[in-house]
Amino acid sequence: MTDKNDPAKIMKQEVGKAAADYVKSDSIVGLGTGSTTAYAIQYLGDSLNNGELNNIHGIPTSFQAEVLAKQYGIPLTTLDAVDYINVALDGADEVDPQRILIKGGGAAHTREKVVDSLAELFIVVVDSGKLVEKLGSNFLLPVEVIPMAVNPVMSALEKLGGKPELRMGVKKAGPVVTDQGNLVIDVKFDNIGDPASLETKINNLPGVLENGLFVGVADLVLVGELQYGQPKVRQM
Ligand code: A5P
Repeated sequence: MTDKNDPAKIMKQEVGKAAADYVKSDSIVGLGTGSTTAYAIQYLGDSLNNGELNNIHGIPTSFQAEVLAKQYGIPLTTLDAVDYINVALDGADEVDPQRILIKGGGAAHTREKVVDSLAELFIVVVDSGKLVEKLGSNFLLPVEVIPMAVNPVMSALEKLGGKPELRMGVKKAGPVVTDQGNLVIDVKFDNIGDPASLETKINNLPGVLENGLFVGVADLVLVGELQYGQPKVRQM
């Protein structure tokens, strides 16, 4: 459990609120996944409930986002009912200077990529600890794979220069199962020199559904950081 004075928590709250402020009435909003976006969802719900915002419909990127949206009173819709998204708010695990992301720490990157890519404005919300010079510095690259293809995909990922490992559950025996019923392979790449090419190569492996590289998707990156002990939000 995080302390209310925990700097990481304060940064996430501030940046979540700043992102929620970009949402206008009468819009369709992509609701991302993770602990930072959870604050954005909470603030959106608060704004709807106090009348600052009207007529918002959310498209959740995960079961977690769906649960939070219901908890905070945000009506939901689907991509069967609407064919556009005005703005999407979502977190990231790493962000490089070109605004290329690694996502999927919550195993939700497949639906996140659908929703975030479709949005007219995709706003990334991170704390400053997520900024890296080189992708793959701190975080393994998640790859969602259908269960029967795990072994051949692991071998293929090794041939691409990665060190793959199957993601295991916490407080759950066995592997993590995604919202789509698939598995996640986390891959260590020592040097992701060409993220666009790697994204395509991995997605071309038979049995892979989606990987966590988001190239050319982010429009705006909001960074929460502490300056002289005070939480601040800046645009990257
Ligand atoms: C979910 O699969 C991820 O892409 C999240 O968006 C990412 O892990 C960020 O989560 P936090 O805000 O909890 O760090």
